[in-house]
Amino acid sequence: MAPEPPPYFDALLERLATGDPETTAALSRHVHWGYWTDPDANPGTGADYAVAAEELCRRVCDAASVRDGMRVLDVGCGFGGTIASLNERFQNLDMTGVNIDARQLARAAAMVVPVNGNRAAWIEADACALPFTNEQFDVVLAVECVFHFPSRATFLAEAARVLKPGGRLALSDFVPSAEGLAALQKYDIGGPETRDSYGLVNVLCPEAEYRSLASAAGFAAPTFEDITPHTLPTYKFLRDIATRWQGNRATAYGRTTRRLEVSSRVGWLRYLIIGATRGV
Ligand SMILES: C[S@@+](CC[C@H](N)C(=O)[O-])C[C@H]1O[C@@H](n2cnc3c(N)ncnc32)[C@H](O)[C@@H]1O
Repeated sequence: MAPEPPPYFDALLERLATGDPETTAALSRHVHWGYWTDPDANPGTGADYAVAAEELCRRVCDAASVRDGMRVLDVGCGFGGTIASLNERFQNLDMTGVNIDARQLARAAAMVVPVNGNRAAWIEADACALPFTNEQFDVVLAVECVFHFPSRATFLAEAARVLKPGGRLALSDFVPSAEGLAALQKYDIGGPETRDSYGLVNVLCPEAEYRSLASAAGFAAPTFEDITPHTLPTYKFLRDIATRWQGNRATAYGRTTRRLEVSSRVGWLRYLIIGATRGV
């Protein structure tokens, strides 16, 4: 059975449809955590959030060493923010966004107008069953979506399969610290309230397991950069936004966001940028 889009996109699309200015400023391009160089200096506005989200996206793309002329696959592409950013900064890219949600893909196709000789295509598919032949892409990107996928092992195998030998994978993901894993299992971070708001969430794959999954899939020299402290202003902003959403789902969303925040602040959960090279 194909995975369902995360429920928070229903609430987000509703808020965007009302024209809510803070939601529109913050979340109509990128739908992920932000990166603040100085986490203490954040005004908490939607416009500031959008700048921080763009910075996080660029850091993931940097980990992939994107260059002009490449074929780039962005899985879990949301509203196309990562492809929009690449489109503005590079030339002659062949870019493909994949998502399980046709509504998000329609927004992405409307938002991204290719320039600089770039091309963009949008495909409805599961990142764990990619509809591409082998060795098609120079780069695979997955900005803050792997924790939603049915299986990290299957996604990594699929990413390796569609990458050319020597191609780069870069992603951002929530990874438990060695000491945080047991606590997160007890804390029920993927439980019913999470499923009702964030959808399928698995943040229980520690770095050692990630390394062995990447290696089994055929990736070499993985790098793990912990950017948690730079992402922390995300939480207050998202909790404030959730107070303007309607119904039970808003409560579940607010409480799940709070759980993720506490887990991150006490060091159980880390926000990592992960890069790896497909072996030749
Ligand atoms: C937090 S959002 C990130 C969106 C986007 N990467 C961005 O940076 O704005 C997670 C995304 O993963 C997508 N997603 C969840 N499960 C998926 C799957 N199995 N295959 C493809 N996309 C999936 C969701 O629909 C959503 O667009």
